[in-house]
Amino acid sequence: MEEICKNWSTWLKKTRFSYMSEEQKNQTLNWLISVRDIVILTAEIQKGYKVADFGCGSGLLGFGILEKFKDSVELIFSDKFSDCLDECKKILESSNTPHNARFLQSDVADIKLESNYLDRALTRSVLVHVKDKLPAFKELQRVLKPGGQYCAFEPIISENTRYYELLTPDNISDYEDFKHAEMEFMSNPDDPLVNFNAESLDKDLYEAGFADVLVSVNPVVSKYVVSKDAVETWFSAPPAPDQKTMKQRFLDYFDEQKVDNFIKEVVLALSDKEVQVSARTAIIKAKK
Ligand SMILES: C[S@@+](CC[C@H](N)C(=O)[O-])C[C@H]1O[C@@H](n2cnc3c(N)ncnc32)[C@H](O)[C@@H]1O
Repeated sequence: MEEICKNWSTWLKKTRFSYMSEEQKNQTLNWLISVRDIVILTAEIQKGYKVADFGCGSGLLGFGILEKFKDSVELIFSDKFSDCLDECKKILESSNTPHNARFLQSDVADIKLESNYLDRALTRSVLVHVKDKLPAFKELQRVLKPGGQYCAFEPIISENTRYYELLTPDNISDYEDFKHAEMEFMSNPDDPLVNFNAESLDKDLYEAGFADVLVSVNPVVSKYVVSKDAVETWFSAPPAPDQKTMKQRFLDYFDEQKVDNFIKEVVLALSDKEVQVSARTAIIKAKK
């Protein structure tokens, strides 16, 4: 897995789809487009605005804005990592769209922009990779003009269906051990992926100085049949380039033989079966 996940742009292009069938991949791409459109609609962008896509990755939000507003907005593609900005530069160069876009390499918790500059600051699935959300919110608030807005989409991974909820002690030896390990690492306060929920986002946004904060949570339930390959990849594909895989997380608790046996039993229990999983996502809108 390492060679297909050396940086964020590879993760965005390959790793995140690695356990999906072609059909699931297409469904996910369509879902991403709908998320993009919701964030852009929520932002109520107008001509002449200065807008930034922070943690732009391969530019999901930025290119959505460009498609709709062309050169009538000043658009900043910003990311902490240069490989993502290089990817966006390539896409922009190959499109013939007139634009007023630029690139900014910046950590969202230390934005290289003057204060009171932007009309809109946008993120999609970025906070979920930032351990301390409050300093990032303070920076987003700082770079917005008074009256400017921050709009975002974030998955609330801490509330997703857990593996142990798909399994039973009948088909998994040491079920209780693995359940407790998963419960513990899925609520680790130092893990950016799971150390927040809608309430903590709301609290941090107010503490950062935002007003009229709206964090609206949507539950999504999906049912699908999982293949053997897909179940195996759940354990080997990292949720981000710098994050441990599920297998590595379990290895923090048990020896390799025990973890491999668990994975084998999960594969046996779930392969070619229909699973129902629920996830919660948040749309955020906050005004300076
Ligand atoms: C899951 S990707 C989302 C990319 C893009 N926003 C999208 O919707 O497809 C997370 C992005 O956040 C960026 N990122 C991670 N930590 C960051 C930080 N501290 N500051 C800015 N960007 C960051 C990564 O480089 C990556 O591009």
